[in-house]
Amino acid sequence: NTDISALFTIFGATGDLAHRKLYPSLFRLYKKGFINENFAVIGTARREWTNDYFHEVIAESVKDLVDNEDELVKFTSHFYYISHNVKDAAHYVELKKLSDRLDEKYTLKNNRIFYLAMAPEFFGTIGDMLKQNGLITKDGFSRLIIEKPFGSDLDTAKELNEQLSHSFTEDQIYRIDHYLGKEMVQNISAVRFSNMIFESLWNNKYIDNIQITLAETVGVEDRGGYYDRTGALRDMVQNHVLQIIALLVMEPPMSLSGEDVRAEKIKALRSLRVYKSKDEVWENFVRGQYTSNDEVAGYLDEPNVNSDSDTETFVAGKISVDNFRWAGVPFYIRTGKRMAQKETYIHVQFKHVSMDLFPTEDVDEIAEPNILTIHISPLEGFSLRLNTKKVGQGTEMKNIRMHQIMDEETLMNSPEAYERLLLDCLNGDPTNFTHWQEVEQSWRFIDQIRKIWDEEPDQLYQYESGTMGPKESYQLLEKDGNNWIEFN
Ligand code: BG6
Repeated sequence: NTDISALFTIFGATGDLAHRKLYPSLFRLYKKGFINENFAVIGTARREWTNDYFHEVIAESVKDLVDNEDELVKFTSHFYYISHNVKDAAHYVELKKLSDRLDEKYTLKNNRIFYLAMAPEFFGTIGDMLKQNGLITKDGFSRLIIEKPFGSDLDTAKELNEQLSHSFTEDQIYRIDHYLGKEMVQNISAVRFSNMIFESLWNNKYIDNIQITLAETVGVEDRGGYYDRTGALRDMVQNHVLQIIALLVMEPPMSLSGEDVRAEKIKALRSLRVYKSKDEVWENFVRGQYTSNDEVAGYLDEPNVNSDSDTETFVAGKISVDNFRWAGVPFYIRTGKRMAQKETYIHVQFKHVSMDLFPTEDVDEIAEPNILTIHISPLEGFSLRLNTKKVGQGTEMKNIRMHQIMDEETLMNSPEAYERLLLDCLNGDPTNFTHWQEVEQSWRFIDQIRKIWDEEPDQLYQYESGTMGPKESYQLLEKDGNNWIEFN
């Protein structure tokens, strides 16, 4: 669909996410004609801003994308700001008046998207207030987009979900996991299900192990307060890592519809082994915290972080999937702040052939296991490691890599995660948003680890900033006779 009419109401309009991601994404959708004359945006937050100032902020946030001043002015003219205390019912009356007025002015057909880009403690209140004050329309669509974190454990997630369910139905709720908007995460299903050579080998008979790395070089930046309460397990594993695992593990869906894909992902998440005992958790999960190096401060010296904090900034784990397809295949995961490189990739390591027919002694290269690498960022594409014979006489091996990496121009034209997800929501396509039952299963898995960790908070390994994590992360794989596959 192009040119869908809708009113966006962004709660948290003065915040960082809106500035960095939402306004530029809306502008890209505008430039591409997906939203046109029939859209309007109400930005709301506590701060007292004027419409003019709001327009300046929008202009600033999209400045790198502007190639025509007139277009920018036209775009920003669709933006309205209203300052708002989310707990005050009177403000929703104002919001409704403005919404109705804009609906008429831009012929928005009562289509509404409410985007909550703010602290989750207010999600429930906002939902209730929107409903009580008649902002949720019946004759157009009303959809709610919410940012993570969706709760901080299963109980709080349930509470939040229950609260939201008073005002929105499950199919009106779009829970963002921005990893699901990434090109290469969306490509996992394409490569799995449309290539016979992978589809037929995608199981425990042929796959030895799968490794997932989400490494960041940044520290906690200015989010010390949030991060210190959260830690890497909740910040990255509960959502992004488990979503990637669900896509790798799931059975082929009947179709690519939201309903079919999400049903398979829910089943996949249900099949993750929940570690029950203390021993199992400590044996399979490692937590770390970064220390300083010559260039950067350690975690404990970051602003708004408790100086004796035992929050983890790194997690490595071995996840087991208890179902017919995957029994016995370890999924190794690692993610952390202040690691050596900003790199996100998946390695699918296939089993060795049954016998070394080619020489393994006194040679430079021996047959290696095949590895399919899915590069998620900053490189985007695939690589495949294969073995061939070295050119010339004899039977020595040569290990080769086949790469399909997107070039800069393709990457520049590829829609950004938030842009894709906003458009999906406009089109009413929930496939790349997380269903409540996915959230529920993820927390079940995470809570158990958290519970054991909380009993022994000191079991936290330090790693120097700029490295790939503590040595215990390497030992986790060595115990199984495996190694983290270096990125290349
Ligand atoms: C967010 C986390 O969900 O993902 C951040 O809260 C993290 O801590 C970010 O930095 C990483 O996203 P990306 O797209 O840069 O890999």
